[in-house]
Amino acid sequence: MKNYPSIHTKLPGPNAIQYLENEKRFVSPSSTKGYPLVVKSAKGMAVTDVDDNVFLDFTAGVAVCNTGHNHDEIISSITDQADTLIHMSGADFYNPLHIQLAEKLSAICPGPHTKRAFFGNSGAESVEAAFKLARYHTKRPVVIAFYNAFHGRTMGALSLTASKLNQRKHFLPLIPEVIHIPYAYCYRCHYGLTPNNCNMACVAWIREELFKTKVPPEDVAAIFVEIIQGEGGYIVPPKEFHKALYQLARDYGILYVADEVQSGMGRTGKMFASEHFDIIPDIITIAKGIASGLPLSATVASEKIMDWQPGSHASTFGGNPVSCQAALTTIRLLEEGLIDNAAKQGAYMIHELKKLERTYSIIGDVRGLGLMLAVEIVKDKETKEYSPEVRDIITQKAFSKGLLLLGCGRSAIRFCPPLILSKNDVGIALSIFEECLKETLK
Ligand SMILES: Cc1ncc(COP(=O)(O)O)c(C=O)c1O
Repeated sequence: MKNYPSIHTKLPGPNAIQYLENEKRFVSPSSTKGYPLVVKSAKGMAVTDVDDNVFLDFTAGVAVCNTGHNHDEIISSITDQADTLIHMSGADFYNPLHIQLAEKLSAICPGPHTKRAFFGNSGAESVEAAFKLARYHTKRPVVIAFYNAFHGRTMGALSLTASKLNQRKHFLPLIPEVIHIPYAYCYRCHYGLTPNNCNMACVAWIREELFKTKVPPEDVAAIFVEIIQGEGGYIVPPKEFHKALYQLARDYGILYVADEVQSGMGRTGKMFASEHFDIIPDIITIAKGIASGLPLSATVASEKIMDWQPGSHASTFGGNPVSCQAALTTIRLLEEGLIDNAAKQGAYMIHELKKLERTYSIIGDVRGLGLMLAVEIVKDKETKEYSPEVRDIITQKAFSKGLLLLGCGRSAIRFCPPLILSKNDVGIALSIFEECLKETLK
């Protein structure tokens, strides 16, 4: 028997309350936190707070700790590396781990060709690098992105993001020549169509309207697309969407930039979500799950595309040796079984979630791939009216019972646990989740 979850204080507990008071005084209030979890330690699937309450983690620190918290092999490899070398800046010097990791990424990223990697520290940085590289390589100004997309919060990445108003409010003007269009959110199709009868109208609109009225296609550098939309609601498009969009990009010499910051590193049951869609992106952005919690990101492109000259882009901390070592160990662990486990447990979990969808009137949609799963909470299955308040009540209740969940999109709850989870963990999480649904409907 596992010792989680185990909640023995009111939440937040007395120690957490003290930290929260000081957080209010001293820490920037700009991020949104769903519930008052103050973390002391974590191991595997379990997160312990400062009052020794133990939670079952179905967030993986926002899709980061894919190998589970503080995996023994990650700890020993980064401890050895910290003993040897912590920093000597890849911006100005060479570093064997940097080179080794780039070679490994060349092998595991989709496509048989040789690729090059640029290393940064966060998802937003990987997107910034991709944005700059796309303009640099094509010498074209325009970039296409999607509604509901989340690509990060630095100015370039934010220009591509169109997820929530408060992320953009008072930060305008952003980078010019970014055009947003509707994504293939088939549960709420922008064009009121269904995947069986739509002929990918959302892609056809770009070709037939946008490229004939407003934007000359030869001025478009890149299409930035999350293979599965993440923060926007864990939205899985039909396979034909990426196929049609990719073909459109090919027809006009536009780069296909796959943002796999959230969907990559085994999360969907394949190393990259692009593999489910038979897509070989021109540029791929990677962060979150790459280094089991250490800060690292990579922007990966073919030798031909990553042709920028010395001085055009660099980062002091990017590709830190300790983070690179964590990434090499992470990739080995993913390849040795965690990706397969994500596919197996994910298939079981979505099957069980679909049962809940049939039982509960407030679950409008269940979707996802591997362990990137979501349920969309609605007021009514017919009208599909968003129900963000009820979604928040459910995630709060889950927290109070020791299950960590996160929202995404306007009204969805995501399940993105570490890829080490067992069938038993799925069972515990779903029985708590169902209790929360029952209590909410009472
Ligand atoms: C798809 C995607 N791209 C980029 C980012 C930004 O990553 P970071 O918060 O590390 O800057 C995120 C973060 O959630 C993301 O999900």
